Amino acid sequence: MSEQLPSLYGGVTSRRVTVNDLQRAKDAGERWAMLTSYDMLTAALFDDAGIPVLLVGDSAGNNVLGHETTVPVTMDEMVPLVRAVARSTKRSLVVADLPFGSYQGSPEQALTNAVRFLQVGAQAVKLAGGRRVLPQVELLVESGVPVMGHLGLTPQSVNTLGGYRVQGRGEAGDRLLEDALALQEAGAFALVLEVVPGDLAERVSKELRIPTVGIGAGAGCDAQVLVWTDMAGLTPGPGPKFLKRYADLRSVLTEAATAYADDVREGRYPSQEHGYS
Ligand code: KIV
Repeated sequence: MSEQLPSLYGGVTSRRVTVNDLQRAKDAGERWAMLTSYDMLTAALFDDAGIPVLLVGDSAGNNVLGHETTVPVTMDEMVPLVRAVARSTKRSLVVADLPFGSYQGSPEQALTNAVRFLQVGAQAVKLAGGRRVLPQVELLVESGVPVMGHLGLTPQSVNTLGGYRVQGRGEAGDRLLEDALALQEAGAFALVLEVVPGDLAERVSKELRIPTVGIGAGAGCDAQVLVWTDMAGLTPGPGPKFLKRYADLRSVLTEAATAYADDVREGRYPSQEHGYS
């Protein structure tokens, strides 16, 4: 008997979203949203809000761990974050980001580290790169690990890309499309396209059978992803051009912390109602 498909919207799925659901969404022309999450409270909240895919991104480096880039992030730092997000969700598909240096060495290295993530509760892993990581993708998929690819501006390669700049302009766009097709052929179930021209992302999305997930890649992708602290306005500054902030948590938290400190200083907190007789 065929199972009623869950809607990817509104937190109404009664079971965890699977990679097959994401493929069916692409086939049906349904767009979906992915957010990063690194901890229990946001994971549970985004799960309840109906976000179908949560990425425990190596952007934890510059959002949680105090690094300037994602390059120093290690497996040992990522594993507790992945475990916390997986434990705190019931419906979102949890994708764990393989950090820099945890998969480039060999397919076997990628498998060892991906297995660590799946054993603490992730349902899939993400890794960056095109044709040079195909052996890794093939071994992972053959071994039962769903893989999300990542092309365009891949922050782990910031030192070879020479900064955070738009990728895939001109002939580089053709190479990116070839990489995308090769990743699909190797068995990737979805592909992040980061900071590439919108027309290229649309072309790749049309050519690929699997869903594309855009970030700074225009409206032509099948899904979108944002770093949650950017989306909710916790990170400072205006952020990159592609960013839309859906809240101003930075102001909310600053005001709350200042009001609390003022209350303590002025003797307004704690008051009688906060005490025990
Ligand atoms: O680590 C991350 O947050 C990411 C997304 C920006 C795609 O890789």
